[in-house]
Amino acid sequence: MNDLVWHHLHLCPRGNPDEVIRDCALAVHDGKLVWLGPAQALPVQYAAWPREDLGGAWVTPSLVDCHTHLVYAGQRADEFALRLAGASYEEIARRGGGIVSTVRATRAADEETLLRASAARLEPLLAEGVGAIEIKSGYGLELASERRMLRVARELARRYPVSVYTTFLGAHALPPEFAGRADAYIDEVCERMLPALADEGLVDAVDVFCERIGFTLAQSERVFEAAARRNLPVKMHAEQLSLMGGSALAARYRALSTDHLEFLDEAGVAAMKEAGTVAVLLPGAFYFIRETQLPPIELLRRYEVPIAIATDSNPGTSPATSLLAMLNLGCTLFRLTVPEVLQGVTTHAARALGQSARHGVLEVGREADFVAWSVDTLAELAYWIGRPLAARVVRAGVTVH
Ligand code: NIG
Ligand code: FE
Repeated sequence: MNDLVWHHLHLCPRGNPDEVIRDCALAVHDGKLVWLGPAQALPVQYAAWPREDLGGAWVTPSLVDCHTHLVYAGQRADEFALRLAGASYEEIARRGGGIVSTVRATRAADEETLLRASAARLEPLLAEGVGAIEIKSGYGLELASERRMLRVARELARRYPVSVYTTFLGAHALPPEFAGRADAYIDEVCERMLPALADEGLVDAVDVFCERIGFTLAQSERVFEAAARRNLPVKMHAEQLSLMGGSALAARYRALSTDHLEFLDEAGVAAMKEAGTVAVLLPGAFYFIRETQLPPIELLRRYEVPIAIATDSNPGTSPATSLLAMLNLGCTLFRLTVPEVLQGVTTHAARALGQSARHGVLEVGREADFVAWSVDTLAELAYWIGRPLAARVVRAGVTVH
């Protein structure tokens, strides 16, 4: 079926509920949108095309989950129990748990095991309308295991109807074999791992965990320089547990995004605005580690820094496999508005990946990647918790769910 008119729908083409077309029709040819607008204005050349009735559903662009650590082995429910008994995320990491415990499990897992574990987390995201996802490495922390993680991420894109953008996060934590030698590990990341993985086509962007329990500003900058030598865009886990000034540094390297940002200050916000860097907020991690410091939402609004929302799907701080649940958390915990969270998982999330031209917006000339929602109003996308809402997930004009 090469030609199809979708009708009996209300369209929210840019994820902004203040900008909608009611009683809309979409004409799709060879997977691409060739026309969209009010149904009664459908040009006569599409009148004879086969039709698909969406029953009055709301349609948005496919969702974009722009920050995940989806590929890893094992889980950390034991650590969750320790935290329930009073230990903090940072204390557990300092005691040799945390990220490093997932590193042990991931190093020990073969590609097939990793693929199966990761696919089980990807499937629920796809069922709720995610059409593009970022996946980070960072649980290998040595060349072969980082490669395996990134290969699994690429393989997921081959097996599932989703675009995957890979991020090399070699500077996620200090591997035990480099204890006390963080600078030597950064040498390894910059001189050996990043060039090798980039040569293999496994890296779309580069990320660093800039934190007291991660890497310093100077170490982060070395990673950014190595990325710049390869013309790779950068991102940063910044100001999650403390104000390090990572966001301002990342902005100097024209970062696509800085992420978490609970401790971000005004100077960082101003630098991000100037650089066009997206603020990726991760309400699942805020919730799960019971953070109390709120990201500076008012400052981000005042400086008009685009805000994205993502799952941060990972075993330590956000064992989440629902992006819609993050919309709810973003509204309840951060007091974001419904238009903010919806744009945060469409247009702004696409921009956080440097993929504004491919994702996050429905317009003529683009792939017909959209979700038809069984809701009366778009606010329901942020309102329900855990209720399946995607009636139809369409990728390049084909119903995939
Ligand atoms: O985004 N902050 C660092 N990285 C992850 C957590 C990783 C882990 O605990 O396994 C995050 O919160
Ligand atoms: Fe993260």
